[in-house]
Amino acid sequence: MDMVKFFHMNGGIGEASYSSNSGLQRMGIMKTKGVIEQAISDLCHNNVNFPKTLVMADLGCSSGPNTLLVGSMVINAVAKTSLEMGYKSPELQINLNDLPTNDFNTVFIALQELQLQGNTTDGKMRDVQYHQPVCYFSGVPGSFFGRLFPMKSLNFVHSSYSLQWLSQLPDLEEINKGNIYLSSTTPESVSRAYFEQFQKDFLGFLRCRSEEVMAGGRMVLTLAGRTTDDPRGEESYYLWRPFAMALKDMVLEGLVEEEKFDSFNLPQYTASPTEIMNLVKMEGSFTIDHLEIFDVNWEAWKRKKNANDTLESTETGDGVGQGVAKAIRAGIEPLVANHFGEAILDDVFMRYGQILTGRKSKKDNQAIVSITVSLTRKM
Ligand SMILES: C[S@@+](CC[C@H](N)C(=O)[O-])C[C@H]1O[C@@H](n2cnc3c(N)ncnc32)[C@H](O)[C@@H]1O
Repeated sequence: MDMVKFFHMNGGIGEASYSSNSGLQRMGIMKTKGVIEQAISDLCHNNVNFPKTLVMADLGCSSGPNTLLVGSMVINAVAKTSLEMGYKSPELQINLNDLPTNDFNTVFIALQELQLQGNTTDGKMRDVQYHQPVCYFSGVPGSFFGRLFPMKSLNFVHSSYSLQWLSQLPDLEEINKGNIYLSSTTPESVSRAYFEQFQKDFLGFLRCRSEEVMAGGRMVLTLAGRTTDDPRGEESYYLWRPFAMALKDMVLEGLVEEEKFDSFNLPQYTASPTEIMNLVKMEGSFTIDHLEIFDVNWEAWKRKKNANDTLESTETGDGVGQGVAKAIRAGIEPLVANHFGEAILDDVFMRYGQILTGRKSKKDNQAIVSITVSLTRKM
């Protein structure tokens, strides 16, 4: 499976789009606002010469309101820091990266809206006391596991909920019977292969960024992760076992071939904080300034953006189970369609939502574990 050729979130702004179903990630980004602001403030304060131009990249930007949210946060953080330091805001170059099949058209149309309305963040209109930076936006298609930018050209890199996706499915020596991701019944060799693929990808990512980010430059990376050391623990499968159950039911009803089910595995890895810290150390080009773990409760699936970019809950009639199923569908539909064909999509995601709804009582497990790490490029 070639991720670069066809992996993407559902495009457009319709009911099934990532744009309409990215409230969980949006809530996660909001929770990292303080970390992003601190990184920008440090970046400006630690520069011998206050930067005249600040170049940033959002890697795995997707399409929809979240794409603009990060840019808005950085714009406001730069404006605020400049004011505090008594300097004119630097000009900002904002590079929006994703895989080539990402819906960049929707991003560019939304950018126009942002430029017309003024940048906003976390629901507040631009604070008029700040001298707002002039911004230039570019779309950069390509995989962040390879080089995307010239040497030492970036001051700041952001990435949210993208780095848990692998560059490819690991080569598996054994069948991950009955599962679509790591679980308590996954063979040890499969679990090892997943970690090895993540290690290779994450180290490659850091190596590429170490060439592109200038000395003293900053990165804030947020990934879906886990708190525990065991990659086959409950945190890894509470979201995916119900999807495997939905597929298994369809196998039993003769709607999905067993061999197809057995050969379907998700190309993602939810790392632990220890794994991330060890890999950053192993690669050696960045220091960790801050690392935090937080939960994004499933309830956040229904957080939407209104015209003023404030977050609000919308009542669509869906319960949290179907809502989360829609959010997951917006992210993995192309993977499922590519493997099983489009005919099963409505059925499998409806069943998935029903199973998630049935598990509603397990409150502890109704959250996406997220890890944010803030890094500085060594001098
Ligand atoms: C869940 S979305 C996150 C989007 C956005 N950053 C957010 O927080 O809402 C993950 C995005 O990462 C992108 N992605 C995955 N692997 C990638 C890679 N190797 N290079 C660039 N983008 C990638 C996907 O195409 C997708 O748009």
